[in-house]
Amino acid sequence: MAYLLAIDQGTTSSRVTLYTERGEPLGSAGRPLTQHFPQPGWVEHDPEEIWLGVVECLREVLGAASLSLAEVAGIGITNQRETTVLWERSTGRPLHRAIVWQDRRTASRTAALREAGHEALVRKKTGLLLDPYFSASKLGWLLDELPGVRERALRGEICFGTVDSWLIYRLTGGRSLVTDLSNASRTLLFNIQTLSWDDELLELFGVPRSLLPEVLPSTACFGCTDPALFGAEVPITGVAGDQQAALFGQGCHQPGLAKVTYGTGAFVVLNCGTCSEPGDGVLTTIAWQLPGEPVCYALEGSIFIAGAAVQWLVEGLGLLKSPSEVEALARSVPDSGGVYFVPALSGLGTPYWDPQARGVIAGLTRGSSAGHLARAALEAIAFQTVDAIRAMERSSGLVLRELRADGGAAANNLLLELQADFLNAPVLRPRSTEGTSLGAALLAGIGAGVVDPARAGADWEMDREFRPQLAQRERERLYRGWGRAVRLSLGWEEEAG
Ligand code: G3P
Repeated sequence: MAYLLAIDQGTTSSRVTLYTERGEPLGSAGRPLTQHFPQPGWVEHDPEEIWLGVVECLREVLGAASLSLAEVAGIGITNQRETTVLWERSTGRPLHRAIVWQDRRTASRTAALREAGHEALVRKKTGLLLDPYFSASKLGWLLDELPGVRERALRGEICFGTVDSWLIYRLTGGRSLVTDLSNASRTLLFNIQTLSWDDELLELFGVPRSLLPEVLPSTACFGCTDPALFGAEVPITGVAGDQQAALFGQGCHQPGLAKVTYGTGAFVVLNCGTCSEPGDGVLTTIAWQLPGEPVCYALEGSIFIAGAAVQWLVEGLGLLKSPSEVEALARSVPDSGGVYFVPALSGLGTPYWDPQARGVIAGLTRGSSAGHLARAALEAIAFQTVDAIRAMERSSGLVLRELRADGGAAANNLLLELQADFLNAPVLRPRSTEGTSLGAALLAGIGAGVVDPARAGADWEMDREFRPQLAQRERERLYRGWGRAVRLSLGWEEEAG
């Protein structure tokens, strides 16, 4: 039997899971990650805390399995995407906290580029939009705001990376500055057709080439662990952004198959095979590239706040003790009683792309209760997912016949019932809702030569199918109400001046 390790570094936690080459999990360990909010709209992580959390998890998992790292065939890494880290090449010391994908501090920078007419070019080359969500404007901010860093970057003394690159740099003892195609495709600096960093984009965002990691296919050798740190040189053989890894882990290997992962945000990703011109606020992104195959592309709908809306009910309002209580509270009422919650707590993504949007709770009456608000939070996750899927359907001409759902909140039956009702299509929950981590393990297994790429999605198994029950008129009535509430949230910050 061959062992594989998957490192899943997400927005709110890090998790390491040990798998067999057949994708069976043998054990896992997790660590939460501190969220820093230095100003409204700013979100940061400490890169050292990310690193130490991952190392602790690695040691815990191996210890529990009485295994040494040397016995592992390959390591897979999957990660929160777009989050931007800068560090010193010689010491590996971070120069600032990581600027997290949810951070909106560069909204005026991307708006200025849009007003100057650059969006069409950016969209054509990257498949993305001019939005502070992606890495480029965050990197530009760091280079402008940190004294002396731009000059040092030009001298080749500084490294930029998304979290995958940061972890690989540390795991390899500073020997590899690399990333994979899927993470590069989220930076706004990478041309997804020529598969290279793009000089015109680098100039637009004021980014020197000397900072950038080398971009490799998903199952390349990304470097080996530093024996001084771990006592063994084990290759890192699979890397993908977390949403692309989930698409892979969920067995969506053929064009037309789609998944949603409910994490901090929710991300709908549809395998579209070849590179297609996106429309309607939808993103085109690189899914993966397997050995001997062309690049596989995907369409994506990005929802910034999903599980985080429930988290806010816990931390912001004190309405619940933990997110796991939300289903029971939401089931304490038969419907949301006309209450809508638009959780635009980090602006809105697909299809609105409005960094100025702010959260709205609408439709309150004297009879509204905590149960109604909890239910409205779950409905909001499902409505946002429908918004994203409808935009993807308009953009691709495809009609989604079913949706595979994973991530932490996929355990919530009510959410998946609401999702099937609002989408008017079956929602399938797999046996393993850890598609992200599984995807990274399978990619690593392919890279290490212990998993057959043709078999990688074959073991996908369904746990439960949720079928739509809601009458069409009721669905349309509820969706109209949602649209009305969304309109209230759009441009809020701008109008509030
Ligand atoms: O694009 C951001 C995404 O990769 C974050 O995923 O699971 O950490 O919410 P998650």
